[in-house]
Amino acid sequence: MTDLLITGIGELTTNAVGLGDDVADPTGLIRDAALLVRGGRVAWAGRAADAPAALADAPARHRSGAETPAMDRSLGAQAVSRGEVRVVDAGGRAVVPGFVDSHTHLVFGGDRADEFEARMAGVAYAAGGIRRTVAATRAASDDELRARLGRLTAELHAQGTTTFEIKTGYDLTVDGEARLARLAAEATGEVTFLGAHVVPAEYVDDREAYLDLVTGPMLDAVRPHARWIDVFCETGAFTPAESERVLRAGIVAGLRPRVHGNQLGEGEGVRLAVALGAASVDHCTYLSDADVAALAGSDTVATLLPGVEFSTRHPYPDARRLLDAGVTVALASDCNPGTSFTSSMPLMIALAVREMGMTIAEAVWAATAGGARALERSDVGHLGAGARADLVILDAPTRTHLAYRPGVPLVHEAYRGGVPLR
Ligand code: NIG
Ligand code: FE
Repeated sequence: MTDLLITGIGELTTNAVGLGDDVADPTGLIRDAALLVRGGRVAWAGRAADAPAALADAPARHRSGAETPAMDRSLGAQAVSRGEVRVVDAGGRAVVPGFVDSHTHLVFGGDRADEFEARMAGVAYAAGGIRRTVAATRAASDDELRARLGRLTAELHAQGTTTFEIKTGYDLTVDGEARLARLAAEATGEVTFLGAHVVPAEYVDDREAYLDLVTGPMLDAVRPHARWIDVFCETGAFTPAESERVLRAGIVAGLRPRVHGNQLGEGEGVRLAVALGAASVDHCTYLSDADVAALAGSDTVATLLPGVEFSTRHPYPDARRLLDAGVTVALASDCNPGTSFTSSMPLMIALAVREMGMTIAEAVWAATAGGARALERSDVGHLGAGARADLVILDAPTRTHLAYRPGVPLVHEAYRGGVPLR
């Protein structure tokens, strides 16, 4: 695999503590930087001026995307010894780690634009809308679901997302949930079993029977395709006791837990997530002081999903309160047809900065390193040596533009494992 040298980086966010111009900066921001990728991983990142002498001596700069001829010279001990290197000149643009979207529901059929339109006219959101998508998903063929998933994946890539999670939860039958997990696994290694999304219509009079199904045959059928177990712990979905039962069954089956909680009102979701050592509790819109304290004293990430508040007219979660308490915060899209039909992590950053009290640096960190923490991944979300070379060259001189220019496509080029995503 050809090495990749990116030069001319106006501003490089590494999220590697100690690597930045300010050694205490958690985002490891380096101005006038360069980055070398070898074997799909970051081999070196730092100030261009500190690059190994021969590395700085690379062939004449080419515009981003241009191929260079083979380099027949040594680049020094830390760089290419001999052979080919592709040099990309970022032209003073900012580079950030690829976005890590730790919460999506990308495998579904149908459309619920009518619900959105009604909400904008004043109708409140209720979790029951999920059942409409369940009906449409059950009616869709594999190819239809795959085609939709492919289009959404292309959207994610075009907006700089290089790692994403996908949940099941829009079929709620044994074979159907296994089908959704199998399709999701074609697109990502981060598949989450969400059989406990809502109780489907055919089980509303026998919740126990549905819980038996979710924690028994459905779990067994989905397990081969999944890494995570999730539950919607909320009024109108699953009670805390039911949620705990589902998560414990998943843990016994070898899945790691995550929780949808505290979306529509205060509740037990956060407490349960922390008690079970969940990687993340997602939404966190309505939190008590005890919830915030519990999160601060745990390794559970609070994943905020501001696309939901945008689309449901609920108040945005108070990220400042969480950050000031020392909680680890992630941002994710929650891309789904009901409450947040957007795949844009730059939009999440813009909302977090404009509406939730986050600084630019905190929001960019939360959308990259925070998402990686929420997925318990140490190989993505940063650009320190050894990281997978997932990065975005922004069509902007600074990362601030992600919030400063909301709604504007700012991805000049995204790479995953050192390979351009097109
Ligand atoms: O994360 N909260 C539960 N699930 C989705 C909503 C899904 C829907 O309304 O279809 C969410 O917001
Ligand atoms: Fe969700």
